[in-house]
Amino acid sequence: MVSKIFQSLLIFLIMATNTFLRGENPSNQTTADHLQPPVQLTAEQDHQRLMDLLNIKELRPWVNGLDPNATNLPNYDESKANPYPNLPDPLVLKDGRRVTTPEMWWKERRPEIIEDFDREIYGRVPENIPPVNWVVTAIEPQTVGGISVITKYLVGHVDNSSYPLVNVDIQLTLSTPANATQPVPVIMELSFGNGIPYESTTYQTEPIWQEQVLAKGWGYAILIPTSIQADNGEGLTQGIIGLCNKGQPRKVDDWGALRAWAWGASRALDYFKNDQSVDAKRVGIEGLSRYGKAAIVAMAYDERFAIGFIGSSGEGGLKLHRRNFGEIVENLAGSGEYHWMAGNFLKYAGPLTWDDLPVDAHELLALCAPRPVFISVGSEQVEGGWVDAKGMFMAGVGAGPVYRLLGKKDLGTTEFPPQGTALIEGEIAFRQHSGGHTTGPNWPTFLSYAERYFSNQNNIE
Ligand code: GCU
Repeated sequence: MVSKIFQSLLIFLIMATNTFLRGENPSNQTTADHLQPPVQLTAEQDHQRLMDLLNIKELRPWVNGLDPNATNLPNYDESKANPYPNLPDPLVLKDGRRVTTPEMWWKERRPEIIEDFDREIYGRVPENIPPVNWVVTAIEPQTVGGISVITKYLVGHVDNSSYPLVNVDIQLTLSTPANATQPVPVIMELSFGNGIPYESTTYQTEPIWQEQVLAKGWGYAILIPTSIQADNGEGLTQGIIGLCNKGQPRKVDDWGALRAWAWGASRALDYFKNDQSVDAKRVGIEGLSRYGKAAIVAMAYDERFAIGFIGSSGEGGLKLHRRNFGEIVENLAGSGEYHWMAGNFLKYAGPLTWDDLPVDAHELLALCAPRPVFISVGSEQVEGGWVDAKGMFMAGVGAGPVYRLLGKKDLGTTEFPPQGTALIEGEIAFRQHSGGHTTGPNWPTFLSYAERYFSNQNNIE
């Protein structure tokens, strides 16, 4: 009898703990019955809803980079690539005064630029955002490239007591050298993968990035952005954006997926601060393509990230919006990609023009100053021109004055360098590798660049 009671008690406790971990305490469950379920719209419907809110009748057509027989091909002719050659000056205040001191930058100009990116480009992070509770769900010893590591599997559960109908569990793994005697630097990747922290392949000829990171004595982390926010328009009433909006569609200046993914990266950094194996002052962030965009947004907004490795981020990342080369603003404003951005961004694909954008990508990079950022891209012959290597290089040049104002070194040149040249002397770095749509071949260069900062902690403070 006693053991029966004990057994029932135990079962109750296990169930209660599980429910708690899922963030659905029983009283929420009752409340949930009275809540409106998340609004369900297709990406097209939600996109049209934003156009209506913005009074936009029609958007200019996007370009098709996939079908060579399309009538709306992208431009790859450099002589036509700069219809708006004058970029907004990162060092002139809205009232026309010139920024002449670091103090003016930090106190006056930087907040202006952030406000423009918030309102018009990436959207605002809501104020009522609930806390994240990180739980280690498993710990696994592994051998990676001959080095013993400890891998932690983590789930960051976002408190959803305010709207239990949306559940957000951020997926993260952290792998650090097993024999480390002190906290180590960590490079975190925003990953397209399935959350498996490391997989070796038989055809691999060179150490993959995780092995290269470990060879420096550092650790690596893998964050799954789609566990924070789905990568599509129909998911905008779910995920962290939907949770904060209690299942309602976005306002025109609400955050898009890029900002949400970047927010999740910052929450991972919060966790690292409390993990003894990580030196949270030396955490770098890396991503490719849409996750390269998210990585530069994370770097720009969260000054705690020490270094960024920004792979082929293209339009919406470090490519200048004012460039007509490869992907353009109109693509980002279309129903396949608009969810990355704030609703307000649609305006710049009609009736407004790219030149009406109050800020451009060089200012996103400037927000990272004085911290080091490595701009990575592949070969135009192999990767193609869609991501616009030169447009990203030009953003690097355009951010230079801000880095110099803060006493740092810029790219060191305004001339686009031959493929394979590593411009890594300053805090803005650039290298075009000979491969395709990957950061792969740039890892060794990036890591020796990062080592310069990570080997002497004083450099990054
Ligand atoms: C598409 C999109 C790009 C994006 C890329 C990716 O090509 O147009 O903007 O970077 O997908 O994320 O792979």
